[in-house]
Amino acid sequence: MKVINENTITDAALEQMSSTPNPRLRTIMASLVRHLHDFAREVDLTPEEWLEGIRFLTAVGQKCTPHRQEFILLSDTLGMSSLVNALHDKRATGPATKSSLLGPFYRQDAPEMRLGDSIIAHSKGTEVVFYGRVLDGNGRGIPNALIQIWEPDETGNYDLQKHDPSVMDLRGCFHADKEGRYHLRGLCPLGYMIPMDGPVGDMIRAQKRHGYRPAHVHFVISAPGCRELVTALYIAGDEHIDSDTVFGVSESLIVSVNRNDPASPLPNLPSIRYDFRLTAEQGAGISGRVGADPAQLGQKAG
Ligand SMILES: [Fe+2]
Repeated sequence: MKVINENTITDAALEQMSSTPNPRLRTIMASLVRHLHDFAREVDLTPEEWLEGIRFLTAVGQKCTPHRQEFILLSDTLGMSSLVNALHDKRATGPATKSSLLGPFYRQDAPEMRLGDSIIAHSKGTEVVFYGRVLDGNGRGIPNALIQIWEPDETGNYDLQKHDPSVMDLRGCFHADKEGRYHLRGLCPLGYMIPMDGPVGDMIRAQKRHGYRPAHVHFVISAPGCRELVTALYIAGDEHIDSDTVFGVSESLIVSVNRNDPASPLPNLPSIRYDFRLTAEQGAGISGRVGADPAQLGQKAG
């Protein structure tokens, strides 16, 4: 009979799990258990504290609905989404735009639009034109690249957070032209506070964090043969640009709003110009999405 104590428990658990046939699952679970046990030993975790952790995770799960994903918010606010993005970027085989957070407000079924269209359906605010090109690793335009964009309204809320989340606003899908060029109209991005009415908000308050994200706009860019890019553009000068609650900002993703841009396809509007660069696909099914449409995350994987 083995003696189970605070030092032998880790090996005992690892030994039982060593029968896992899937090698990647075996590696991930063994490492997770090692680190989890080390964490408990390091802080000398009490039963009460562990139960509080279980209560917290239960509340995070219970807050999730087809329109809200509290677990993605938790991953984002713990820096885990940003870390997984950075590891994903490191595996790119060529130069590519940096990833940023997909966040909890992506939707799979945004409306198809034509170049130059506006994604503003129900909101008000300063209109801007987003334009630029989608380029491959050699700097060549990618014809017909798919550009998905979404952003919050003038009150800092996404359509999914509204009274009737089935109504779509401020999101759309566009196809670049033959040279990879795109332009579309939307709202000048604003910053916002992450949803604070759930357990993640309680955590943020307990840590005396401000809970704000700097002004940004989200993109997913894809094309056949290229690795899908999940990213966001951040507006220079925002007061929270250096203290994003979810750690999404990279210097190369910071843009400025240009109020006098003769090169813009719609020069009478303020403009935000950005060229996205995609790297070659590195195998089927490799996704850079740390998150998903909340309606899909609630479904069992097939
Ligand atoms: Fe966002």
